[in-house]
Amino acid sequence: MWLPCGCTSKYVASSFARRTLASYLHVSGRSRCNVAAFMPEAAGLEGVSGRAALRELSVSNSESFWAAVARHRLCWSTPFHTVQDCDLSRGKIKWFEGGKLNVSVNCLDRHVHTCPERVALIWERDERGSEMKYTYGELLEMTCRLGNLLRRHGVKRGDCVTIYMPTCPLAVASMLACARIGAAHNVVFAGFSADALAERIRDAQSSTVITVNQGVRGGKVTELKKTVDTAMQSCPTVKQVFVAMRTDNPVTMTARDIAMEEVREQKANQILEIQIQAVEGEFGIFEQITKRRKITVTHEMLKEDVVCEPAVMNSEDVLFLLYTSGSTGKPKGLVHTQAGYLLYAALTHRYVFSYHDGDVFGCVADIGWITGHSYVVYGPLANGATTVLFESTPIYPDPGRYWDMVERLKINQFYGAPTAIRLLLKYGDQWVNKYDRSTLKTLGSVGEPINTEAWEWYHRVVGDGRCPVVDTWWQTETGGICIAPRPSDPDAEIVPGMAMRPFFGINPVLMDTEGEVLTSNNTSGALCMAQPWPGMARTIHNNHQRFIDTYFQPYPGYFFTGDGAYRSEEGYYQITGRLDDVINVSGHRIGTAEIEDVVNQCPAVAESAVVGYTHSIKGQGVYAFVVLKKGIDVQEADLSRQLNGMVSEKIAKYASPDFIQFAKRLPKTRSGKIMRRVLRKVVESDLEGLGDLSTLDDPAAVQEIIQGHEKLL
Ligand code: WTA
Repeated sequence: MWLPCGCTSKYVASSFARRTLASYLHVSGRSRCNVAAFMPEAAGLEGVSGRAALRELSVSNSESFWAAVARHRLCWSTPFHTVQDCDLSRGKIKWFEGGKLNVSVNCLDRHVHTCPERVALIWERDERGSEMKYTYGELLEMTCRLGNLLRRHGVKRGDCVTIYMPTCPLAVASMLACARIGAAHNVVFAGFSADALAERIRDAQSSTVITVNQGVRGGKVTELKKTVDTAMQSCPTVKQVFVAMRTDNPVTMTARDIAMEEVREQKANQILEIQIQAVEGEFGIFEQITKRRKITVTHEMLKEDVVCEPAVMNSEDVLFLLYTSGSTGKPKGLVHTQAGYLLYAALTHRYVFSYHDGDVFGCVADIGWITGHSYVVYGPLANGATTVLFESTPIYPDPGRYWDMVERLKINQFYGAPTAIRLLLKYGDQWVNKYDRSTLKTLGSVGEPINTEAWEWYHRVVGDGRCPVVDTWWQTETGGICIAPRPSDPDAEIVPGMAMRPFFGINPVLMDTEGEVLTSNNTSGALCMAQPWPGMARTIHNNHQRFIDTYFQPYPGYFFTGDGAYRSEEGYYQITGRLDDVINVSGHRIGTAEIEDVVNQCPAVAESAVVGYTHSIKGQGVYAFVVLKKGIDVQEADLSRQLNGMVSEKIAKYASPDFIQFAKRLPKTRSGKIMRRVLRKVVESDLEGLGDLSTLDDPAAVQEIIQGHEKLL
């Protein structure tokens, strides 16, 4: 059916809805199968008799499956004519061509029509107990004003706006405002340094930045505007920087800056009268709800109209860029587009977590990462959920923060990272038991493998042994969750520490070292996907060749994830870790080459090699081997401090090495390649596992490295 679920008569009255009403009645009248009972989106599919059959069909006849769910779940202004046009061997991925829609309409307007007073966002501010709620009506209003503000300052369809903000309602409204006017957003994690920010702004060719004066996290103030100022020194193309106020402290403004002067907390409850405005547009009538109510907007934004005509976007227009680390030095700007991404985020949000209407969804990720994009913003809002924006840290002001929040906000699904779970379990059960967690229904884990001890604690203590723990595997590239324990059956068996089962439409395969598909179970290999799905990234911004080389060239015809996996006897998947030089520190993905690039910039350094090692809390830690230039005479402790400072300054604090080992030389092959495999084994103290050393240029180098490592510990 072409109509979105939950559409009211107002939509039906619109020209678009009138056109499609006939097909709606026709399709829903026809479908009699029981699939509709558990997946209403698939109601149009005939002859499917159960969950297993639907999952099977989503792979064997993926076009029918995705066409049905896309028609049902999204609100289109023009229906698509082609479900997919993909060729993985060329990195060509297109979904729902011919279709036109607006993502912000899908995330806001359609819910405002049915339930304007439903809470869209709960902002769990850093200061405990000071949460603020925003209804769908209020979020739409903020988004529209911001969209108009951006338009008035010349931001056009197709432009890219960089958002450097902490997780807060204005950041979400900024993302949606871009979507409303057809601009792409490029959210840069607010923990990134000025250099990292500048690199991402330049690569994205962004001429507009949105930021805040200061961030507040864990009781500490971060100077975000100052960081933007520093970044601006190497970003000559930026024309304007919008600055909102998160704290009361003024910051230096330049000619380029536009103060947004956020209405401060004490003024946030001011009552404003808003005019009824109704506009007949491409999306039918969208009407501003008129009521006396609090609004939290900026002074500049207050000048703007509360109605902002949504841009009519093609399915394959860019929705956002998001930079992530690869195995080479330069981060890559992955591109996600409108319809396929939104559909996939919405569908996975609903089914992986067993989300039901009215639930409060608490994903504690920062909006600067893909998890924040898909499961704080787009998935939950597309489903009309109440989503939590978590601004703080798991241990501020004490290790009970998450569970206090669960009690206060009555969270039903909690989605977090294993690194935080490992940290919290060390503080003991009393911090959890203090709080009422009876609202919790599902616990999610993401970003890195969850070890059995953390899984058991999460399940037994946090979830009182009654909430399923879903270990979700996915990546910035995949747009949404691909493998999870209960993607299609809320009662399926769960094995601790395993992502387990592919989502609808996902067809994972394991490859051996020769590039052959491994067909048996109880086997390990390189994890690839044999079929495209709507949520996958479309390209790397400005570098399609790198996209092809990284993901489609290693196993022609397949999408290569970069991860290794084990498939159990029962056919369940367990992710074993990266196969490339990417490491995962506290759930943050970082290329070892990025760190080496920075270390090598130090004039005293001749060369370096960075590897990951197992860390009991962070999952992986950063271990750097550094060779100094000849004749350099420095105190190693001083130089270590300097190198740590450089990495924090040029990338981010989390990338800073935990250990720096100075060495005379690095173990290399005869052709001069550093043998990282050997270094990894040394830092894991797995000397038995050093493997074949026959290609080593000089075996004595390994002995030196081992001795140096033992000394450092
Ligand atoms: C890792 C985060 C094991 C994996 C959503 C992947 C995981 C990378 C899991 C992507 C998991 C993510 N079990 N490993 N459940 N989830 N990973 O792009 O190595 O920040 O390739 O996306 O994190 O990290 P990214």
